[in-house]
Amino acid sequence: MFRTMLLPANEQRPVVDIFVEGRRISAREGETIAAALLNAGIVPFRRTPVSGQPRAPLCLMGVCFECLVEVDGAQNVQSCMVRVNAGMQVGLPTGARRAGDGK
Ligand code: FES
Repeated sequence: MFRTMLLPANEQRPVVDIFVEGRRISAREGETIAAALLNAGIVPFRRTPVSGQPRAPLCLMGVCFECLVEVDGAQNVQSCMVRVNAGMQVGLPTGARRAGDGK
């Protein structure tokens, strides 16, 4: 369903490492967090607070909010709208958030 477009070697971006729940994954500089997670086979991205249903990106363009993750301690970040940075810490939320959690 999701596949990275292959570019010629001279057009490929450098690889950086990010950490998802403490697990190191590789991503191409400039790609979104959502793309990096999908490339790594990480789904679901989160679970709903009330029923615990698994959620994953749907629109990949900032509309549906199904791709929310935690990034470097900041909650409810739309992973399809934020590009990876080397060393970024990504969390996959489960359960309800409380006021004062994160940044
Ligand atoms: S996938 Fe829809 S807002 Fe990110």
